Amino acid sequence: MHPNLSSATVGLILLLSSALGAAGTSWKLGLDNALRQSPLRPALPEVVISKTWDILGPFRLGTREAIWGADPLEYDGGFHNLQYDPNGTFNSALAANGSVHWGATHATISRSSPGQVQAALNVSFPAVNWAFMQSVYGWPALQYQAWARGVLEVKGSQPQTVALFGDGLLEFLVDGEPYFGGDMYQYHRAPSLVKLTPGPHTLELRLTRDVRALGGLNNAIAVMIHAELREPESITLYQDSLLVPELVNGRLGSRWASINVLNNEEDLVELKSVRALKTMHRVSMQNPLQIAGHQIRPLGFTISLEADHEPHFSVEVVYQIAGGRSRSTYFEVNLKERPLSEPLRITYLHPAGIISYAILRTPPPNACNHSLPAPVILVLHGAGLEADSAEARGMLDAAYGTCAWMLFPSGVTSWSGDDWHYWGVADTQAAVSAIADWAKQIGWDGPAAALDELIVAGHSNGGQGAWYFSTHFPDNVSAVAPVSGYTSIENYVPYTMWHDSEPSLSLVLSRSRSTYKNELLVGNLAGIPVAQQHGADDDNVPAYHGRLMHELLGQAQWPSEYKELPGRGHWFEGVMTTKYLKEFYQSRANQSKVVETFPKTFTITVPSSGTLGSKAGIQVDQLQTPDMNGKLRVTRSADNKIWHITTRNIRRFHLSETLFRVQLPEAMVLDDMSGTFPMESPQKTQGWFVRDADGKWDTSRDAGWKTIHQRYGRQLGALDAILRTQGTFTIRKCSPGVDPVALQISRNFFQYFAANSQIIDHCSSNSSLNQPGNVVTLSMGHDLPAALGDTYPIRIDQGHLVISTSRSLSTLPALRQKYIYGEPGLGAVFLRPCPDEKLELVVWGTDLDGLRLAARLVPTITGPGQPEYVVLGKRSRWEGVAGVYAAGHFDWSWQISPSSYQSDPM
Ligand SMILES: *[C@@H]1O[C@H](CO)[C@@H](O)[C@H](O)[C@H]1NC(C)=O
Ligand SMILES: *[C@@H]1O[C@H](CO)[C@@H](O)[C@H](O)[C@H]1NC(C)=O
Ligand SMILES: *[C@@H]1O[C@H](CO)[C@@H](O)[C@H](O)[C@H]1NC(C)=O
Ligand SMILES: *[C@@H]1O[C@H](CO)[C@@H](O)[C@H](O)[C@H]1NC(C)=O
Ligand SMILES: *[C@@H]1O[C@H](CO)[C@@H](O)[C@H](O)[C@H]1NC(C)=O
Ligand SMILES: *[C@@H]1O[C@H](CO)[C@@H](O)[C@H](O)[C@H]1NC(C)=O
Ligand SMILES: *[C@@H]1O[C@H](CO)[C@@H](O)[C@H](O)[C@H]1NC(C)=O
Repeated sequence: MHPNLSSATVGLILLLSSALGAAGTSWKLGLDNALRQSPLRPALPEVVISKTWDILGPFRLGTREAIWGADPLEYDGGFHNLQYDPNGTFNSALAANGSVHWGATHATISRSSPGQVQAALNVSFPAVNWAFMQSVYGWPALQYQAWARGVLEVKGSQPQTVALFGDGLLEFLVDGEPYFGGDMYQYHRAPSLVKLTPGPHTLELRLTRDVRALGGLNNAIAVMIHAELREPESITLYQDSLLVPELVNGRLGSRWASINVLNNEEDLVELKSVRALKTMHRVSMQNPLQIAGHQIRPLGFTISLEADHEPHFSVEVVYQIAGGRSRSTYFEVNLKERPLSEPLRITYLHPAGIISYAILRTPPPNACNHSLPAPVILVLHGAGLEADSAEARGMLDAAYGTCAWMLFPSGVTSWSGDDWHYWGVADTQAAVSAIADWAKQIGWDGPAAALDELIVAGHSNGGQGAWYFSTHFPDNVSAVAPVSGYTSIENYVPYTMWHDSEPSLSLVLSRSRSTYKNELLVGNLAGIPVAQQHGADDDNVPAYHGRLMHELLGQAQWPSEYKELPGRGHWFEGVMTTKYLKEFYQSRANQSKVVETFPKTFTITVPSSGTLGSKAGIQVDQLQTPDMNGKLRVTRSADNKIWHITTRNIRRFHLSETLFRVQLPEAMVLDDMSGTFPMESPQKTQGWFVRDADGKWDTSRDAGWKTIHQRYGRQLGALDAILRTQGTFTIRKCSPGVDPVALQISRNFFQYFAANSQIIDHCSSNSSLNQPGNVVTLSMGHDLPAALGDTYPIRIDQGHLVISTSRSLSTLPALRQKYIYGEPGLGAVFLRPCPDEKLELVVWGTDLDGLRLAARLVPTITGPGQPEYVVLGKRSRWEGVAGVYAAGHFDWSWQISPSSYQSDPM
């Protein structure tokens, strides 16, 4: 959300949450609950949460650092093992006298129906001099951690399954059993199901303050625990999660729909089929959907309407529990019709195999020259904002009249899952591609959408998203307008309070995060008009961010426009349609405009992760090493016939003719000494330019290099490259006893990304890797199946993890070639290649404790900077990243890069 929520923003957010429509993901029991309330059903027993809570804290915590452990009480054996002691003192760098004591707080308890209860905690530590700390360290000083202990009690005489939602939490314990992931952004999408005996149970909450989620105006942590007894029904269909397209001219522009389904049983539930009741409409699902015990998954289905349709109908879902008899349950579909001139909800398939939506507005009649495709203005929304809200839908109302399509992608979730990075860009891309089919289905006869004419705008988190999109996919963007945007996660709420670690280790993490450092990539915007707008009094994303990018663009020899609005804050009504921005959209959308002049000289920067779309038709495939950014300095001759290109750290690239915004040359001169490469037309787009170990460039047309031994395409990126899946995630369990961790990862994928994952048991053969999407493999001890490539440098040998570094690359002769880790409680994560650009993320532990430690690093919130492999020792539980034994990156041949970090346990 927003630090320093101004009152205007608070008002907006409240409005938005009440304006969430059918596509909203907020949680509520709708019709499904109503259907169940038969008069014969016995009253549910009660669940109760204590009003008084013991509190211990505050302790320091860095921005998004909690993923790495970094809990000081773990040094004392963990909060769960500490008894309340009025005399107890604990060292804390934040508090007076350097120590803190136990305290207490009261929760606000509310109950909206029997069988469920909510406890809201608002914890703050007024004794700490936050204002002074902040005056020295800035917003990071308002981030800290603490623990709270209360009681959850189940009344009655039978064990009960309780759904626990933890809004604002990253982790909690029930009777000492850890539930990691929680719900930092308060999506309320996926509860943890806990089976509890009657009586009291200890509930312990790790409170972590995050300025981006909780604001920077006060120092309080507000969280809510919502406990709800599951009813006897085996599955819950979340009626309010139903996502359907809107009708226009009585037609459906897209047929994709979905609804979230929770399995309340401990056994596997299989959804067999869906069908519409009492209508001729066809509702169908492709394959049966298997939902593991206590798992929640989205059920994707398609709708096709008969003529003279009834927009309101019931859908039956047929399911089986553990192969038993078939049962049915129902949900309601109510399709809403809107006029063509309004912003409309469209649905489509996200590459990760889920249904997503965007809000689309067609160009106004008579605004365009119908013989030309019209550009698309993309608006990326701010954090915590749902695209399907009156506010977001209306964001460009005042600019309606411009000849352009307007597209508001949802980003799948209100935080776009990952701040408009891999997950959000994939969604945006899918939304853009969905326009053509939608137009055909509804019988649109106006101008088509010009998919290569994207005008990318965005506000706040979306402003940052606009920077990310345009610096990473420059050839896809014809103009960019970041509004009140921040430059990068690290520049927004700095990392000052993190635990210190060995500098060579800090460097590895900093490199992982650098893919998102837009400040380093501004040169990629050469040739793309940039118009920034920022409120001078923005206390949420300071205008410094806008001014900085303006300054950096000037130094990159690509002057940009920067408009600072005096007296204006972060958000105000019409912020995306000021006179300044309207004129920018209009001039960029003007179909008779002259083609932009492309600079004579420009520098392309490839983030060290290698993730960059094409720029001026140049698509870099591989870097020499992931230890530094790649660069290409291009100088065009006066007639554009020859390009002189100097490269740094580039190993392989090709030219992509489909996207160029400048005519490709007739010849290229690479790094001078390699001579000239003439380019006949077919050669322009076929084949690769490859630099060998001696620095000599050659061309190659052999596509055979894309093997398991080379890293390319969607395998690039740090650990979060696992999100670049094409298809549903598969979580394979390769050891007995890993079920809670499998469920946790599935739940976190769903909570944070609305991602779909299947949990499978078999992992012995290659077939379990033969899934459409990326795979997460869970194993302990010696159970891990070998890597597909025989040169892959990490393996398990007799229950120990063995890392082989390549000596020839090592700059430090003191370093050995082989490192072995096997102590109890040790965990590791590492990416491995799969065929066809797919990835496997191995989560491994010497035991369950180690596995749980490692599983914290599977992507949830943005910013922790997980590298591509990490070995965590038990000290990381309190030291955070400083307790890491090994961490680093893989190069183009999946070998460990020289700057990676290895150390012996001691
Ligand atoms: C706390 O300290 C006081 C004073 O030393 C002592 O009288 C009291 O028994 C202690 N309480 C506990 C619970 O240890
Ligand atoms: C800090 O220590 C001093 C001296 O022991 C004591 O008087 C004061 O109350 C302590 N402050 C806090 C906030 O505990
Ligand atoms: C929590 O308490 C702080 C003051 O300590 C207050 O400013 C804030 O509004 C409260 N938050 C909620 C959600 O009640
Ligand atoms: C529309 O575009 C076509 C093709 O570029 C051009 O010939 C025509 O003059 C344009 N018409 C108007 C009214 O701009
Ligand atoms: C960029 O354009 C290319 C070619 O049309 C397309 O394949 C790719 O998906 C686009 N990328 C993004 C991020 O829109
Ligand atoms: C579009 O561009 C043409 C040529 O530069 C110009 O004459 C016209 O005024 C522009 N229209 C708008 C709406 O900016
Ligand atoms: C698994 O796949 C690899 C690489 O594709 C192959 O070399 C190996 O023989 C396969 N193993 C089995 C058991 O099929």
